[in-house]
Amino acid sequence: MKVKKLSVTNFRNYKNETVSFGENTNVFFGNNAQGKTNLLEAVYLFSHGRSHRTKSDNEMINFGSDFMKLCLEFSDADRDYKAVLQLSKNGKKSISINNVPITKLSMLMRYLNVVMFSPEDLQIIKGAPQIRRHFLDEAISQLYPVYLKRLISYHKNLAQKNNLLKKMHFSENISGDMLDVWNEQLSDDGSFIMKYRADFIENLNGYASEIHKEICKENLNLLYTPSVDCDIIDKENFYKKLSAVSAREIENGSSLYGIQRDELRFFIGDKEIKNFASQGQQRTAVLSLKMAQTELIADVRNEYPVLLLDDIMSELDLDRRAYLWGKIKDKQVILTCTDLDDTKDGSVSDIFEVVSGKVTKREE
Ligand SMILES: Nc1ncnc2c1ncn2[C@@H]1O[C@H](COP(=O)(O)OP(=O)(O)OP(=O)(O)O)[C@@H](O)[C@H]1O
Ligand SMILES: [Mg+2]
Repeated sequence: MKVKKLSVTNFRNYKNETVSFGENTNVFFGNNAQGKTNLLEAVYLFSHGRSHRTKSDNEMINFGSDFMKLCLEFSDADRDYKAVLQLSKNGKKSISINNVPITKLSMLMRYLNVVMFSPEDLQIIKGAPQIRRHFLDEAISQLYPVYLKRLISYHKNLAQKNNLLKKMHFSENISGDMLDVWNEQLSDDGSFIMKYRADFIENLNGYASEIHKEICKENLNLLYTPSVDCDIIDKENFYKKLSAVSAREIENGSSLYGIQRDELRFFIGDKEIKNFASQGQQRTAVLSLKMAQTELIADVRNEYPVLLLDDIMSELDLDRRAYLWGKIKDKQVILTCTDLDDTKDGSVSDIFEVVSGKVTKREE
């Protein structure tokens, strides 16, 4: 999978700019706050439909403008694509690929695959459980659009169930008949999601522990700890668990079990990383995780995703950097840094300088 050309209009600190990417390692360098991460964000948007760093689409429209437009030309082994994303201040958003409107996120995810790796990804290890669930959900949705559909359906039903539980908590006159209906539907989608999470984590763990060992000889292990713990993951077992806790849930006024409480845990040997590991060890674990995700995408899609590496070289020691350069040399990479020296130990094919929303390619 390759991205070829990106054109942006009124996007973040860009007015009008076009960038043509090389097929291998593209480096965008420049001082802080010039627009490097913004370019990665633009590419990421075509893969995930939303930004990797903001929930509010409007934030991305250039201050003072009332719309933005992005065009991305990319290709996979079979064909070329031209995608267009437009967003206006009044909240209207449209995406099309080869002139066909994309109306659902699950449709968009069939096309461009990217893996983003930035310093904030350390939060996958250190941060709150929902950050790990978000990582899982994005990674699995990217490979299996049906997962995203089930996830949306699950959360819709969960909101309805929580609404009812809250009402029942405050008043004895509210009928609980619908509780069983929500539990049935949650069990159907929930067991489906659990199976996908369990399989994905098992496969990811296979690659991540192998890669981690190559980098630093330590034993990395990923462990899925589902909230609904059962030997066989199926709808019946899920439903039994939910039914068994109904009285407690009413008392509590909200749901107690379900995929919204699952955990993904990281271990080195038998020790949990977030409790004992150094910054560098945590960073190495995330590096292994992201490279494992890259391999998994290649397994499922028969093509490597485009790697978006935001300012990470400066955070890695020389050995880890050397490892990463080796791993990425045959893939398309878009990498940002503030100091070009950080890339001198790797093979870089195209260099761009970013200054105040203007990109200039360096001709060697
Ligand atoms: N909607 C917007 N309109 C105009 N400018 C914006 C908008 N959103 C963000 N910016 C500005 O874009 C600039 C560049 O942001 P970006 O995150 O791409 O910087 P960067 O080059 O990656 O810097 P760093 O090296 O610090 O990570 C910032 O100064 C930010 O304030
Ligand atoms: Mg940046």
